Amino acid sequence: MCGIFGYVGTKNASPILFNGLKTLEYRGYDSAGIFIPEAGVLKTVGVVDGLLEHIGSNFFGTSGISHTRWATHGVPSKENAHPHGDCSSELFIVHNGIVENYQELRDRLTKKGHTIVSDTDSEVLAHIVEEHFLRTKSLERAVTSALKEVRGTYGIAVLSKSDPNTIVVARMGSPIVLGIGDGEYFVSSDASAVLGYTKQVIYLNDGECATLTPKGYRIFTLRHKKRTRRPTDIDWDIEEVKKGGYEYFMLKEIMEAPDVLADSARGRLVSEKGMARLGGLEDVKGKLKHVKRIVITGCGSAYYAGLVGRSMLEAYTGIPVEAELASELRYRSVVFDKGTAVLAISQSGETADTLAAIRETKRHGLLTLGIVNVVDSTIARETDAGVYNHAGPEIGVASTKAFVSQLEVLALLTLFLGRMHGMSKKDGAELARGIARLPKKMDEVLKEAGRIKRIAKKYSKYNNFLFLGRTYNFPIAFEGALKLKEVSYIHAEGYGAGEMKHGPIAMIDKSFPTVAIVPKDSVYEKMISNIEEVKARDGKVFALASRGDKKIEKLVDDVVYVPKTHEALTPILMTVPLQLFAYYVGVMRGYNVDRPRNLAKSVTVE
Ligand code: F6R
Repeated sequence: MCGIFGYVGTKNASPILFNGLKTLEYRGYDSAGIFIPEAGVLKTVGVVDGLLEHIGSNFFGTSGISHTRWATHGVPSKENAHPHGDCSSELFIVHNGIVENYQELRDRLTKKGHTIVSDTDSEVLAHIVEEHFLRTKSLERAVTSALKEVRGTYGIAVLSKSDPNTIVVARMGSPIVLGIGDGEYFVSSDASAVLGYTKQVIYLNDGECATLTPKGYRIFTLRHKKRTRRPTDIDWDIEEVKKGGYEYFMLKEIMEAPDVLADSARGRLVSEKGMARLGGLEDVKGKLKHVKRIVITGCGSAYYAGLVGRSMLEAYTGIPVEAELASELRYRSVVFDKGTAVLAISQSGETADTLAAIRETKRHGLLTLGIVNVVDSTIARETDAGVYNHAGPEIGVASTKAFVSQLEVLALLTLFLGRMHGMSKKDGAELARGIARLPKKMDEVLKEAGRIKRIAKKYSKYNNFLFLGRTYNFPIAFEGALKLKEVSYIHAEGYGAGEMKHGPIAMIDKSFPTVAIVPKDSVYEKMISNIEEVKARDGKVFALASRGDKKIEKLVDDVVYVPKTHEALTPILMTVPLQLFAYYVGVMRGYNVDRPRNLAKSVTVE
């Protein structure tokens, strides 16, 4: 995820900015840059160390802003790296977040003669500030006026050559923390970067701005109302801050699910029309109108997301869809019909099997699409078109927030393709409404963390688990079992609940608990019958059910309720309690859940 770091004071800013960027490296990034008004701009693609060779004694100044970029709009390149300047390179900005109306703003600015050199949504901010700066001659006024034109999220820092001792910052949805030193001030998206210099910090709230100079700081609202805030003392060490106060990145990333759901859908839902706007698929829209068959492929969790996508797409597009493990698809000798599109799902965009499957199907002349989290990764580059997840980098090895975003992007794709292939406006509007409400509902799911922890404690002593689900939640049974295996090394199997009586039921006894995913959906009664079968054999059952379901309480041993949602979206809400369950069991068993043994974040070998 992008990182911001800025300094104003009396010391040489360049080594301070460089160290700040080094501390932010753990967030994940693909390019970086620094602006010091007296010295200029430096940018690099790849690691922050690439800046080092240019930071000589002549790259000097007592203020500056810097950034690590994790690409969302436009590939990792020097042009797209921050800081971004205005037309005359008078002022520069660094930005975290997403400008939803950037295309609109970009078109307007270009018509007025602005030269925009990058593909990013962020650069337009520099040009709007420029317009207001020319008029108001005050950077502070220019920033607040510019931000009134912006829809979306931002944490920004702005610095100009004409007043190099003043940094203006603002926050809406993306964190900004001020570091209060003695005659020097810092700004960062993450307190870890300021901790080496000061323990006194102020976290800006949404809608707040601040001006930092060597003489002090001032906080005010977008409407220039003064805000008085006292600095707080942080006594965490840097490692704790990086994890946002959580013990593990896995938990931090699970807790990010509501933000991820908001970010992945940002600017993509056209709720009133019951449609989705997916810019990355615009170029192949014509081909997608005539697509006859879809094959979804991926590995591990990404494949399970694909299985959920299969149910969503089949239900609303009428197009035959199959999901196939990439490691199998690459060796299948089927000759795919023309009119088939292959959709690869991959967080890293580098998984060797998924890439090989895409290359193989491309050889057959098929249209290839991607749902990829890492911008400009190999799969993103090699597919014909695709959709980025915008989930931010995932540091924990086991997929959590990326999986959640994959499911949501598949729901958006269902809207996008569905409305081309006969999905009614009413059905579209219902699904769009469901997607828009997901972040709030996910907040409610996360409130159950304490209860899930207590349940995990009770179950952490068992050595075998069966996970059951049906239809939309059939793949979530596999995903829940996979998560538990990965981080707790407990044997767990996912099964379609209807399949239980064809074998696995033989294993059930009081030492073999079952986790059942039972939303109030079209197969609810069937799931209840399957749970009865487990109970009749003395099996313990932990169920995930829809809020308000009183019947289930009487039947099972433990239950966690999740809010009701659109049937196709139930896997999104059901998956997070299972991630939490696996997390707590893994931690209780004493394992490092961020780095499970024998696993790698990106599997680039066959
Ligand atoms: C499970 C997990 C893996 C990945 C799989 C695919 O928690 O992380 O199963 O989902 O290795 O990786 P990507 O999505 O990077 O292709």
